[in-house]
Amino acid sequence: MADYRRKRWRGEMAVRVDVNGALDALIGPGGLQAQDLESLQPRVAQAHDRLGARRSAKELRFRDLPYEKREVQKILELARELRSEVDTLVVLGIGGSALGARALYQALCPPFHDHQPGTAERGVRLLIADTVDPSTFGALLDEVDPHRTAFNVISKSGETAETMSQFLIVRERLLRTLGAVDYSRHLVITTDADAGALRQIVNDEGLRSLAVPPGVAGRYSVLTAVALLPAAVAGIDVTELLAGAAAMDERCAAPSLFENPAYLHGAVHYLAHVARQKTVQVLMPYCDGLRGLADWFVQLWAESLGKAVDVDGQPLHGGQTPVAALGASDQHTRLQLFAEGPNDKILTFVRVDDHGARLDVPRGYGDLESVAYLGGRTLGDLLNLEQRATEASLAALGRMSTTLHVPRLNAFTLGQLFYLLEVQTVFVATLHRLDPFNQPGIEPGKRLIYGLAGRRGYEEKRAEVEAWMQKKNPRYVI
Ligand code: PA5
Repeated sequence: MADYRRKRWRGEMAVRVDVNGALDALIGPGGLQAQDLESLQPRVAQAHDRLGARRSAKELRFRDLPYEKREVQKILELARELRSEVDTLVVLGIGGSALGARALYQALCPPFHDHQPGTAERGVRLLIADTVDPSTFGALLDEVDPHRTAFNVISKSGETAETMSQFLIVRERLLRTLGAVDYSRHLVITTDADAGALRQIVNDEGLRSLAVPPGVAGRYSVLTAVALLPAAVAGIDVTELLAGAAAMDERCAAPSLFENPAYLHGAVHYLAHVARQKTVQVLMPYCDGLRGLADWFVQLWAESLGKAVDVDGQPLHGGQTPVAALGASDQHTRLQLFAEGPNDKILTFVRVDDHGARLDVPRGYGDLESVAYLGGRTLGDLLNLEQRATEASLAALGRMSTTLHVPRLNAFTLGQLFYLLEVQTVFVATLHRLDPFNQPGIEPGKRLIYGLAGRRGYEEKRAEVEAWMQKKNPRYVI
């Protein structure tokens, strides 16, 4: 595409943030007032300066990922190799090491793409094994032909119990079926460049590998090899994805919350929480392909903002509880609660203007108005008018919402969404004065797992769990 046409196309593909559904003008006295947003502006400006300083000091590595051209070249080369060797790529990873790849695959490859091994026309299929449930993982291994499958082991720390157990099982099977010479061609490792057990294994065994850039936590790694390699192997245009992220980065350079989409959306969520007690935020795309994005976002927001103390160690309650929902299905499951249950939620709809695929609803039963009115519409129209009706019905009940408008679902718009939601999360963390990059709450649980699983050095952790089990009263187990 000529450059000027690409520029115009990209302009037309801008993701828009609409926060009207959170304002009193639309939802009545429970909504935020224009004044609430305006009075936050000095703190937004401070947060902006703070984030700018941190970015210059290389403390916000995720913000520079759209521009890492050399890394992307390496990823594309390895993806090309893998595409010529296999028809299935299995991702072994969990949490931030799996959710980005799944979000990309669900959004940008055809539905049910993973139901059959890939072909030259359809590209390589991805299977994402973020599980140690023996039924699921066992069935997955039985499903693939090891001769035509590569396994991408992804772990930044290189020692996550779930991922390393999967790796040990797969390695043993590959050795058994392919032999000691060929097995290593079926493994690709994505891990820290220097540290951790997986890096040591790569170095010792000469396995193919890519690096997770330093300072990028799993939940901020969707624009690194962690998700870009699986995506590129599946045939997704990762260059366009990064171009979308870079376009959003440009818009996120504005200091004013009325010009910066991440600040405006973040500010509304922050105020909804601290000034209007909306302790739950629901992300509800009206597009099946964005179900994975909603799951990815839930992890991003939950692990980044669920903190007990601020950066000075002062107690705080952290961010809202994130929930993923899906339109229109969840209108028939949870909307009743969103509408009339506790008024402690703010919903974010994601609306895709053009769904691409067109499916017409034929006219029929002209004498039955309850059916006939559907005829002559497309299913995409129906989905979008359901979103509009849900937004309006919640507004009429004084329930808060915002809407992210996506002109069409493609790599460029998805790149914008990922980047927008990441910057929004770190911006809200800055308003709360908390560290979005650590996860102290899950470390004690990991140590107990090590103790129970018999890892040397964690014996007293096992004893701790056993002592705790003793406290259980059998009377309350029936
Ligand atoms: O966001 C995070 O940091 C976590 O969800 C990690 O991605 C997850 O725990 C997996 O960690 P690792 O990549 O070290 O195996």
